[in-house]
Amino acid sequence: MMQRLLSPTLLLLILFLLCTTTYGQSLAPAAAPSGATTTSGQSSPPTSSPSGPTDINAILGKAGKFTTFIGLLKSTQMDSQINSELQKKSKPGFTIFAPTDSAFSDLKTGTLNSYTDEQKAALTKFHVLHSFLTISQFQTVSNPLHTEAAANTEEFPLNVIGNGTQVNITTGLVNTTVDSTVYSDGQLAVYETPQVLLAQGILSPQHRHLYLQSLRMLLLRQMILPGRLALLLILLMQHVCAMHQLQYPLEWRYYPYGC
Ligand SMILES: *[C@@H]1O[C@H](CO)[C@@H](O)[C@H](O)[C@H]1NC(C)=O
Ligand SMILES: *[C@@H]1O[C@H](CO)[C@@H](O)[C@H](O)[C@H]1NC(C)=O
Ligand SMILES: *[C@@H]1O[C@H](CO)[C@@H](O)[C@H](O)[C@H]1NC(C)=O
Repeated sequence: MMQRLLSPTLLLLILFLLCTTTYGQSLAPAAAPSGATTTSGQSSPPTSSPSGPTDINAILGKAGKFTTFIGLLKSTQMDSQINSELQKKSKPGFTIFAPTDSAFSDLKTGTLNSYTDEQKAALTKFHVLHSFLTISQFQTVSNPLHTEAAANTEEFPLNVIGNGTQVNITTGLVNTTVDSTVYSDGQLAVYETPQVLLAQGILSPQHRHLYLQSLRMLLLRQMILPGRLALLLILLMQHVCAMHQLQYPLEWRYYPYGC
C-alpha cells in the first residue's frame, strides 16, 4: 500500500521540487536590511572610519569606477547585508574583491544580462569573504577560501596567493591580481581587481548536497521505502538532476543503491 501512495508521478513531483529548490539561500545571514542610509559619501581617509557607519556603496562610489559592481551589490541586497553586519562591530568583518567597470566590460557581450538572478547573486557573493584580510595575510591564508557564494569550495574555488606586496587570484576560470587597496579599516577591506571573478558554480548553477541530504537519509536507511522503490527513486533523481544539469552529489556513488 505504501507503493501505491508513492506513485512514480508523485515521486517525480517531489524530485522536481527538490531539484528546483531555490539555490543559495542557506548562507544568507538573516540580516534585516536596516536603514544604514549614509548616501553622502563623506570624505574619510581610507585607513580609518571616524563617525557614522561604514557604507560599502559610499566607499565604492567614491572611487568612481565600480558602478556595475555597486549595481550588483544593490540588486542582490548584499550591500545592506554587509552594512548591517559591519555595524555590529564584533563581527569578523569582510574582504571584498571589487572588479572595475572595465573588468565587467571585458566579459563577453551580454554575459551579465544572460545571467539569472541566482547567477547574479552567486557572482556577487563570490567576490565577498566574511572575514577581514590584509594584503600581508594573503601570504598565509589557507586556500581555497570560503566566499559567501557557497559553503563548499568545489564549485566556487577562490585561491588567493600573496607575497606581502603582490597578490594573485585564481578561480580555475580566471587568473588575476589585486590592483590596489580601495579601502581598509581593520574591519572591511576592499581590493580592486581588473577582472571579474568567475567560477564554475556561477556558469552552471549546481545544487548542493544540503537539499538532497535529508531525502537521502530517508531513502538509504530504508526506514520509509522498500529497497526496490528506493532504487527506482534514486535512478529517477539521477535522471532529473542530469536533465537540469545538476551535480549528482559525489558521496552518493558510494552507496549500494547509487551508480
Ligand atoms: C603572480 O603571478 C605572476 C605571473 O604568473 C608571478 O610572476 C608572480 O610571482 C605571482 N605572485 C605571487 C605572489 O604568487
Ligand atoms: C612580490 O612579487 C612581485 C612580482 O612578482 C615582486 O615585484 C615583489 O618584489 C615581490 N615582493 C616580495 C616582498 O617578495
Ligand atoms: C591560470 O594559470 C594557470 C597556471 O599558471 C594555468 O594553468 C591556467 O591555464 C590559467 N588559466 C587561465 C584561465 O588563464
